[in-house]
Amino acid sequence: MQLVRLTSDQDCSQFDCGDKDLNEFLRDDALDFSEQRIANTFLLKDNDTIVAYLCLLNDKVSQEEAANNKWKNLKKNFPENKRFSSYPAIKIGRFAVSSSYRGKNVGRLLMNRIKDLLNENPNYSAFRYLTVDAYISAIGFYEKNKFKVLSPQTQDKHTRLMFFDMKELS
Ligand SMILES: CC(C)(COP(=O)(O)OP(=O)(O)OC[C@H]1O[C@@H](n2cnc3c(N)ncnc32)[C@H](O)[C@@H]1OP(=O)(O)O)[C@@H](O)C(=O)NCCC(=O)NCCS
Repeated sequence: MQLVRLTSDQDCSQFDCGDKDLNEFLRDDALDFSEQRIANTFLLKDNDTIVAYLCLLNDKVSQEEAANNKWKNLKKNFPENKRFSSYPAIKIGRFAVSSSYRGKNVGRLLMNRIKDLLNENPNYSAFRYLTVDAYISAIGFYEKNKFKVLSPQTQDKHTRLMFFDMKELS
């Protein structure tokens, strides 16, 4: 399977992951987000079929958003003189696998592919973490991919902020 950047000549109209917002974003908004330099979208393709997609944008993890005990644990990974109130990150803005490819390790494959690409091709700017606002229903998937919950438990929100430490790859 090939990972390619979304371009205007790709037909995304048939993509269906079972989530209306994620389908509509890919079909109607993703190109604009890229043109406005807000988020870049990448497609995982099996020949002409879009099997999965994700978006990437810049982010940070900050003490403000973290539960106290989680921030304490995160800080332990840094030497005393590098204990700041935030650290640079890249956010996975959207992540979706087509319903017909669900449960076949495609999500894991895409996640590993993107972690490796970001790790092997560092650009001019540094980042330490991958972040995601995980749907509550998908937290288990991200945990399987070594993400940890950062935000405190809240009752009404339908997402939780999670992070992956890129140092785990080195
Ligand atoms: C969540 C999603 C990306 C998972 O993709 P997938 O290709 O079906 O997942 P994989 O087959 O790669 O699963 C990898 C592992 O995660 C587990 N897993 C997958 N989805 C899970 C979920 N929703 N909850 C808990 N565990 C999950 C699998 O059981 C598997 O575990 P195993 O190694 O013990 O077998 C996919 O279901 C999806 O696109 N859902 C709709 C959109 C969505 O929720 N996106 C996330 C937005 S934050």
